[in-house]
Amino acid sequence: MSDRDGALELGAIVTRMRGASICVVGDLIADLYVHTRPARLSREAPVLIVHHEREELIPGGAANTARNLAALGVKVWLVADVGADAAGAAVSEQLAAAGVDVSGILRRDDRPTVTKTRVLAGDPHRTKQQLVRIDKEPRRAETRPRVAETIARLERAEPQVAAFLVSDYDYDLLAPPVIDWLRARAAKKPVVVDSRHRLPRFGGVAVITPNEEEAEAAAGLRIESREDALEAGRRLLTQLAVGAVLLTRGKHGMMLFAAGVPPVEYPVVGKGEVVDVSGAGDTVVAAFTAARLAGAALPVAAWISNAAASVVVMKVGAAICVPEELQKALALAPLPASAIRSAEA
Ligand SMILES: Nc1ncnc2c1ncn2[C@@H]1O[C@H](COP(=O)(O)OP(=O)(O)OP(=O)(O)O)[C@@H](O)[C@H]1O
Ligand SMILES: [Mg+2]
Repeated sequence: MSDRDGALELGAIVTRMRGASICVVGDLIADLYVHTRPARLSREAPVLIVHHEREELIPGGAANTARNLAALGVKVWLVADVGADAAGAAVSEQLAAAGVDVSGILRRDDRPTVTKTRVLAGDPHRTKQQLVRIDKEPRRAETRPRVAETIARLERAEPQVAAFLVSDYDYDLLAPPVIDWLRARAAKKPVVVDSRHRLPRFGGVAVITPNEEEAEAAAGLRIESREDALEAGRRLLTQLAVGAVLLTRGKHGMMLFAAGVPPVEYPVVGKGEVVDVSGAGDTVVAAFTAARLAGAALPVAAWISNAAASVVVMKVGAAICVPEELQKALALAPLPASAIRSAEA
């Protein structure tokens, strides 16, 4: 495969993402950014007084993954819970406007929408600093996951989708029976899992996409070097009996582990300025799953997801990457030879 053929092939995969359909299931988060300008010190207490400028609400967690898929042209069903509050309504509305099927979002009055409010302060026209983050979360002891309703929603989505994408931020949606239901589906449809703290519960699925911290916890070893990362990925692949492990390593790029082939390493692509890496993992799992459904081999799908991540880390906040941006990033970043060899193996 020449460079030119490679670029054409990658471009065709991005175009074919349009035909894919995916059910995202997991924890929806509302990310609220409050932009302020510092004014003076308070006389009541040694604290800063800031003036409110504007607020911006962005879909986070599973909602960010869903939004990233929709941006790539994928047909998306989202199964998630919100509270009966303004944040839940606003995120649902934004997702619907982005083309996500939101009929599987359950509005509950027994818990709030998980909301992370970041207060940012700074001069207008400068990058603002985060002053404080306020997390509103369901109280574990008081709220019960709606297991039967969640499984019923998944069953409604199932005939419509080619894959399930689990976005587990360790809140209340993915109760053990829901995880068992998803694992049972893995024999028929690809189940791709991005999980904060529960990776070991997802043995047997098609792909897991941990970051280094998640891989350390699940594999039981510290990752301090490239060799440690290789060891952690190999361990997860065999211990969890998954089809593949896509280990994301922040500024070190990613590694792909699949049975029967040597691991493939991917450096980060692009020379642009990295401004905000939050949500990059959501973009990775979204682009990777979309590329797989569009016919990409594992090592090719990983490279495409790496290129998608390079687009969003140059944007502020949890961001999205549209097909034109992805095409442009891929045109500048030909598939590495190691990935081509692995795809042909
Ligand atoms: N500092 C960086 N410079 C360049 N690329 C980066 C950087 N940080 C992350 N990336 C890209 O984003 C991908 C995913 O990042 P990371 O490993 O931090 O995921 P994550 O911790 O799951 O993120 P999150 O949970 O915030 O969505 C990396 O594999 C890489 O391609
Ligand atoms: Mg992540």
